[in-house]
Amino acid sequence: MSAVLVSAEALVKRFRTGGLMRARWAMAVDGVSLSIREGETLALVGESGSGKSTVARLLMRLLEPDAGRVMFEGQDLAQLGPRSLSKARQRFQMVFQDPLLSLNPRRAIGDNLRRPLANAGIRGTEADDRTAALLRDVGLGADTAARFPGEISGGQCQRVAIARALALSPRFLVLDEPVSALDVSVQAQILDLLLDLQESRRLAYLFVTHDLKLVRLMAPQVAVMHRGRLVERGTSESVLSDPTHSYTQSLLRGVLRLDAPPDWDALTAELPQAEAPSHQASIPKGEHA
Ligand SMILES: Nc1ncnc2c1ncn2[C@@H]1O[C@H](COP(=O)(O)OP(=O)(O)O)[C@@H](O)[C@H]1O
Ligand SMILES: [Mg+2]
Repeated sequence: MSAVLVSAEALVKRFRTGGLMRARWAMAVDGVSLSIREGETLALVGESGSGKSTVARLLMRLLEPDAGRVMFEGQDLAQLGPRSLSKARQRFQMVFQDPLLSLNPRRAIGDNLRRPLANAGIRGTEADDRTAALLRDVGLGADTAARFPGEISGGQCQRVAIARALALSPRFLVLDEPVSALDVSVQAQILDLLLDLQESRRLAYLFVTHDLKLVRLMAPQVAVMHRGRLVERGTSESVLSDPTHSYTQSLLRGVLRLDAPPDWDALTAELPQAEAPSHQASIPKGEHA
């Protein structure tokens, strides 16, 4: 079995939600633990607002956890100084639902791809060669380099965002709803590309999705999130065919729609109020790479 590449240990994150006089807090992530091995994919599913993107951003260290820690390649990211952290960042990258979030719309595609290379000291003809290779790897022609993000299709834009994430040869990508904004016909092409890249580059993925149909296709392992907690974790095969938690059962029966915030009042009959998580994903001691 390959080594654990990234793990989250009891992550907690809450957000202040207004109230000038008396602060109110929303618990976005409440004790989430998970781990992903080299070259493997874990799918993270749950309804809108369940905390998936917050977990993703905590893993990328785009957010600081209130409690808990993220281990990457055996290192606690919170212990790294700015220089080590920016070096480590080359090895984990994120792809967003909206590719324009990671691209500068005022710069040509080639310049967008050269930016992370330049930050790592790669310039000149080497940068040009790497840029051309990245475009080829994501199925785009060399002529794409001169075009601007607004001039290409959504699917092509997502390919560029993937190329940008791959620029410094990461080991781990967080894919946060990477095809949710795309036409169904284009979705399949992007998912195929992600599977090919995973194989050729031995990438590990956290594949965040609200589309249960994609789980079995993309990930042998799945974690189900509900109101900031992991309520179920296991092989996609077993969770999808024999879910133990009533929340997952409701998802699979189609009682819940994952693309819209749930109507909790209507669901009280489906979801027992005080149900404890059936099994939080746990990380055996000494398993880190
Ligand atoms: N920056 C923020 N400020 C305040 N609340 C936030 C912020 N980001 C997320 N939240 C809240 O945290 C909860 C989880 O959000 P999110 O992680 O985006 O869920 P998901 O990705 O599953 O839709 C939601 O209630 C959301 O409103
Ligand atoms: Mg989200």
